[in-house]
Amino acid sequence: MATNVFVPKFHTEEILKEIRDCLDKGWTGLGYKTLEFENKWKEYSGVRNAHFLNSNTAGLHLALNIFKKVNSWKDEDEIITTPLTFVSTNHVILYERLKPVFADVDEYLCLDPESVKKKISKKTRAVMYVGMGGNTGQYQKIIDLCKENNLKLILDAAHMSGTKWKGKHVGSEADVSVFSYQAVKNLPTGDSGMICFREEEYDSLARQLSWLGISKDTYQRFGKGSYKWKYDIPNVGFKYHGNSVMAAIGLVQLKYLDEDNRKRNEMAGLYSQLLKDNTKVKIIPVAKDCYSARHLYQILVDNRDDIIQFFYDNEIYPGVHYMDNTEYSMYSYAKDSCKNAKLYSQELLTLPVHLNLTSEDIILIAKVLNEATEKLAK
Ligand SMILES: Cc1ncc(COP(=O)(O)O)c(C=O)c1O
Repeated sequence: MATNVFVPKFHTEEILKEIRDCLDKGWTGLGYKTLEFENKWKEYSGVRNAHFLNSNTAGLHLALNIFKKVNSWKDEDEIITTPLTFVSTNHVILYERLKPVFADVDEYLCLDPESVKKKISKKTRAVMYVGMGGNTGQYQKIIDLCKENNLKLILDAAHMSGTKWKGKHVGSEADVSVFSYQAVKNLPTGDSGMICFREEEYDSLARQLSWLGISKDTYQRFGKGSYKWKYDIPNVGFKYHGNSVMAAIGLVQLKYLDEDNRKRNEMAGLYSQLLKDNTKVKIIPVAKDCYSARHLYQILVDNRDDIIQFFYDNEIYPGVHYMDNTEYSMYSYAKDSCKNAKLYSQELLTLPVHLNLTSEDIILIAKVLNEATEKLAK
């Protein structure tokens, strides 16, 4: 169990107390703890606006839906995105009948600014940037490119809870950043996420659209005991808002996030030290101006699939993040267009980094990897 790639750690007793508050109050839905969690997240991360949702996927979709509506983007307008990601990042572009245009990734596994630049056309409206594993990559260059070309910057910060960039929590520099608190993320709940717009106008719209387009949410309408049933519906929205039970879990987990990420960084440091003399292993670097949340510890190896089998035989279960999305049928129109993503997709391996691992576990995993590369050398 401990050597699975992800094993979340929950502060069970504290969480149960927070959830009990919800049950005693008779409020498990939108409002109450969701508002408290939004405020705590703003305080922690420094983002100006934060709206709690039922997932990061919902948030990425909402971001595109709102930008498209407010800025009158057209169907088939283009969003530059990465082929190396969980498929949510790209599916949401299709939800809005926009076109994913794939640019290649760099040595950090994040979008390569040079490749992005080449993909900008008259129809480009935004860049969807994924902070892979918590890494910021060449973020400043992407920000500059977006500014110069009047493009919205959407940060898929699914892996970035706790990532610091240039000394500050990441997120407020993008037009919108969307965090994931899915079950195995650095700040795990069950399923939930946070959408953080820079502009308040978009945040207000997000609140309405995440609750089916209804102008006033139930918590607002409940008021001081007098339930006001009347509301308007100015837009077609979605059922995307978060609930108080997930927020209750998030509130507790947030208190431990920095300490947890510190431990993750220690584990990553230990791996790097133990693997540094292995010429068959290329460690993915963290950008200089980044303190990564270290959601993932990723390496590149030849004969990756044989190495995975070697791990399995030793009851260690690493992961792969990710397969080049252009190899999926849905995105095959762009197959082979991103050289690095294609190659990395065959060589990437994610070693377990989570809070149930001890230093002995890390030493064992590194030892097994060193044995595997020696034995399976091409
Ligand atoms: C890069 C990336 N983007 C988006 C998501 C979607 O997050 P959620 O499960 O909260 O919708 C994930 C989840 O694994 C992810 O890794």
